[in-house]
Amino acid sequence: MNSIRILFLGDIVGKPGRALFQKHIGRLERELGFDGLIVNGENSSHGRGITSRTMKFFKHNGVNVVTSGNHVWANKEIYSYLNENKDLLRPANYPTGCPGVGFTTFSCKGREVAVINVQGRTFMRDDVECPFKKTESILSIVKKKTKLIFVDFHAEASSEKMGLAYFLDGKVSAVFGTHSHVQTADERILPGGTGYITDAGMAGSLNSMIGMTKAPILKRFLTQMPVKFVVDLAPPFVMTGVYVDVDLDTGKTTNIQRVKIIDEDLYIEASIK
Ligand SMILES: [Fe+2]
Ligand SMILES: [Fe+2]
Repeated sequence: MNSIRILFLGDIVGKPGRALFQKHIGRLERELGFDGLIVNGENSSHGRGITSRTMKFFKHNGVNVVTSGNHVWANKEIYSYLNENKDLLRPANYPTGCPGVGFTTFSCKGREVAVINVQGRTFMRDDVECPFKKTESILSIVKKKTKLIFVDFHAEASSEKMGLAYFLDGKVSAVFGTHSHVQTADERILPGGTGYITDAGMAGSLNSMIGMTKAPILKRFLTQMPVKFVVDLAPPFVMTGVYVDVDLDTGKTTNIQRVKIIDEDLYIEASIK
């Protein structure tokens, strides 16, 4: 069977996330032999947002497409990059006029591969367009180009993520959930052949709160006062994601596996900013 293997990594959080990625991606490539690489980069710069420099880092390390989510707007510096490039996606269901695009294609094994990024509404801002209808309308465009279609659904509620996955089952190759920063153990192939995981997880400090130090977040839970979130640099670290094998002829997933790396002695170089 002729297939492609795509590795998808959940939210890369700040400096430790980037250091983990840089340290392990070469070995993952050798061991898994993936053909395409997609990562969520919405927290890759200081835990909040992404910069053109971080994009350069990802591209230099072989990433084909960087997806994002609600934090993509944190650094205004990225807006011009979003407008000028199609390898960084912002959620497609933000209003027209927002910088950037929400879907793109890249070339892989001589085929076009489409990536769509949408954001959920349940327990998040509910004034973005319907992610279900938006994805459906994007599919009417990308289906003319390719059967190899991957969706990063950046959403809070597992019900909404499952809902979109079942809605798209048989229409896209895989739906990868992001945003919770916690890898779920429900990876599977849906009845129609769409690969699915509720959340791919993150790359960052393991004993943190979604990659951030615990104390300020606990203070916020206890006092409801605004606090500054700080990227947690304490070991051990974790990097999680999922890879899928997709049949080139049908566009359906034939194999889906979780990836989880625990790193006790990561060296976070000062130069990796
Ligand atoms: Fe995130
Ligand atoms: Fe997010």
